[in-house]
Amino acid sequence: MSLMPILTLPDNRLRLASAPVSGVDGDVRTLLDDMLETMYDAPGIGLAAIQVGVAKRVVVVDVAKREGEEKEEVKNPIFLINPEIVKASDERSVYEEGCLSIPDYYAEVERPARVRMRYLDRAGAMQEMDADGLLATCIQHEIDHLDGVLFIDHLSRLKRDRVIKRFVKDARLRGA
Ligand code: NI
Repeated sequence: MSLMPILTLPDNRLRLASAPVSGVDGDVRTLLDDMLETMYDAPGIGLAAIQVGVAKRVVVVDVAKREGEEKEEVKNPIFLINPEIVKASDERSVYEEGCLSIPDYYAEVERPARVRMRYLDRAGAMQEMDADGLLATCIQHEIDHLDGVLFIDHLSRLKRDRVIKRFVKDARLRGA
């Protein structure tokens, strides 16, 4: 397994729509393992492949640590290939979101409180899962990434533009 560099705003690749995976093979499983290690190292609770520069519909999520108590050893990784939301509740909930591609910025986002999703698991089998709470939010945030959407796109235009401007400026200062 190896750590992969995480793309950050304003990298344009974050705006790409990712392509579906045609079959879950060894390459996809290696990507999943590398993404998981990268996510734990960051640390974060979700990572989409495009965040490490791979435009494939592949996501890793683990909200166990955040939801449980501060037990480092609690791990519950979920591997999602070609995930899609097939049902979303009318009821909505608000979470303060962040993103490894938008470091040190957090804002409240409102999304459906519960979702049902369909995806291929690590073995390539079709699965359906109901999610609520933080997991529901996290999955929707990650699926957004697969369509080039960032959580700041759910904020007011003013807030979003302010964040983007700040990251563009920081990148310029770094000489990136
Ligand atoms: Ni994100």
